[in-house]
Amino acid sequence: MLNTVEPAIPLFRQRGRGHIALTSSLAGCRGFPVAPSYSATKAAIRVYGEGIRSRLRRENIAVSVINPGFVKSSMTDANPYYMPFRVSGERAAQIIKHGLAKNKARICFPWPLAVGAFILSLLPPSWSTGLLP
Ligand SMILES: NC(=O)c1ccc[n+]([C@@H]2O[C@H](COP(=O)([O-])OP(=O)(O)OC[C@H]3O[C@@H](n4cnc5c(N)ncnc54)[C@H](OP(=O)(O)O)[C@@H]3O)[C@@H](O)[C@H]2O)c1
Repeated sequence: MLNTVEPAIPLFRQRGRGHIALTSSLAGCRGFPVAPSYSATKAAIRVYGEGIRSRLRRENIAVSVINPGFVKSSMTDANPYYMPFRVSGERAAQIIKHGLAKNKARICFPWPLAVGAFILSLLPPSWSTGLLP
């Protein structure tokens, strides 16, 4: 992600506009025990995206961080566990397109999982640890 975005920024600056969309995940809101390394990489993407959004906003370069829950794909087809509120690729694309058109900082979906992930991120670890499988 960094190897793609960092070289793109000077090109966008030269052009005087641009929109960078980074794919993080709701799994990046907190470290999840089923995929701790995955959660860590997605948290890094989200935090980096928030940082460059603020840095680039006066240069007419937008940055949005996409935080999906579960979307049907070859990656999730291989998951052995239950994936609540999993949406189709087409539905995910619609939501992402709409969020990008509105220049949202964070595009989080589906909303029930997004609310759950947000609450988990606010709870002290001593509470949230026991709630996760
Ligand atoms: N699906 C979900 O529920 C979900 C939820 C949250 C976030 N995400 C994120 O969304 C993104 C896409 O996920 P997905 O579910 O669509 O995964 P996927 O079905 O496994 O597809 C991954 C895609 O990335 C390409 N790819 C992998 N390594 C690459 C590389 N080194 N260089 C260029 N392309 C590469 C693959 O290309 P090939 O087809 O050629 O192998 C494939 O098209 C990922 O960042 C994932 O973490 C997905």
